Amino acid sequence: MSEQKKTWMKPSLAPHVIGGLNKFGGGGVPTHRTEVDGNKIDDLVARFGSPLFILSEQRLRDNARRLIDAFETRYPDVIYGWSYKTNYLGAVCQVMHQEGAWAEVVSAFEYEKARSHGVPGNKIIFNGPHKQREILEQAVAEGARIHIDNLDELYTLESVAADAERVVSVTIRLNFDTGFTDPWSRFGFNIESGQAMDAARRIGASDHLELKGLHSHIGTFILDTRAYEAQVRIMCAFMESAENETGCEINSIDIGGGFASRNALHGSYLPPEQVVPEIEQYAQVICDTLLEATRGRTTRGKPQPTLILETGRATVDDAGSLITSVVATKHLPDGRRSAVLDAGVNLLFTGFWYDHKVELAQEPEGIPEETVLYGPLCMNIDVVRSSISLPPLSIGNRMVISPVGAYNNTQWMQFIEYRPNVVMTHGDGDVTVIREAEDLEHMTTLERIPEHLQTSSIMENEDV
Ligand SMILES: Cc1ncc(COP(=O)(O)O)c(C=O)c1O
Repeated sequence: MSEQKKTWMKPSLAPHVIGGLNKFGGGGVPTHRTEVDGNKIDDLVARFGSPLFILSEQRLRDNARRLIDAFETRYPDVIYGWSYKTNYLGAVCQVMHQEGAWAEVVSAFEYEKARSHGVPGNKIIFNGPHKQREILEQAVAEGARIHIDNLDELYTLESVAADAERVVSVTIRLNFDTGFTDPWSRFGFNIESGQAMDAARRIGASDHLELKGLHSHIGTFILDTRAYEAQVRIMCAFMESAENETGCEINSIDIGGGFASRNALHGSYLPPEQVVPEIEQYAQVICDTLLEATRGRTTRGKPQPTLILETGRATVDDAGSLITSVVATKHLPDGRRSAVLDAGVNLLFTGFWYDHKVELAQEPEGIPEETVLYGPLCMNIDVVRSSISLPPLSIGNRMVISPVGAYNNTQWMQFIEYRPNVVMTHGDGDVTVIREAEDLEHMTTLERIPEHLQTSSIMENEDV
């Protein structure tokens, strides 16, 4: 019997239905919550207004302790440097410092802020591609760990050290290809091209600098722990070569940050719970690899390097939530629902790369439909969620967006709106403002209007 040839059929593409059933169940029913960290949303808004950032002190402490424990139970000598850029609100930094974290800073401003929090210079890790001479002078005088980014900085630092008649211990930042992430090759010295070894030789030949540490930050939101295995192997191989070539003795390896938080990158199909490794999984790979790659060093009279971490988002992201309110609703020409919120990308910079979790502060009523959530800015790109299944919304409805603790309180922008209150919850209903809402006076306090611009003819008819 001859096989019947199948009839060709035109292929078709079916769009992914937002909120439809998938293998994780779902069905698009939005979740709903009435509290944030044990505090009623309505009470929080009544006291502190909307929008409102909320950071949980307990969650911050738990996250920091979990990170430190995960590494300290697997490696003998660990320093955790709190990555200031992730969230440098004073209260957040102080929680981290109380948990034993040093400060990891990337600019003169961050350096000065860490000092203003009482962090001694010798507990500051100083990264970044722009360190002015004045701040390098201060960092040298105060014994900070300076991580050199480029040759110009190396020469400046050498001259600062010479002027201070000192020999300064330094770290160089390395970049290289792990095979798992796009190399961040604009920072530090490249290993593959020989640039990094040239820098090590240059330091080896200096009367005022000595190479003591290696640093790299291979990227951010790294979901594959094998990237860290490769990073540590490459850094340890470089350490051995640099020591052999230049006679230096490396006593620290700083692996930067990059552990993913429980957020969903745009376009990711699987939910964060399925794809984001646990902190202990990162720790296992990193510590195992480092122990293996440094085996026998101490018997050769070399130091067992201190492991330095600069974890940012994985420690603070899920400690932060944002309450926002609906200020208008409308149907778009294509029939989709949309709502305008009082918080947009001005406050939620991370909305550019995450589909944040959105939970309603009131019982969902009505049929969920595809909805676009816009912020209050007069910019087309001010989109908080481009597609989310929500029931009909009306003015005054509130929602909680999370996790938002990382990068938003530092990268937010003051564009046409005031930035709102940021509060910290301390448990048992104790909530305090840790950054006050801005007002006109705050916004204009640095402005100066020249004498001849202080009046204009349109002021003449003010009563009309
Ligand atoms: C040098 C350095 N260290 C640490 C971090 C923190 O990274 P993450 O928040 O991904 O942990 C960054 C972020 O870009 C960085 O550039």
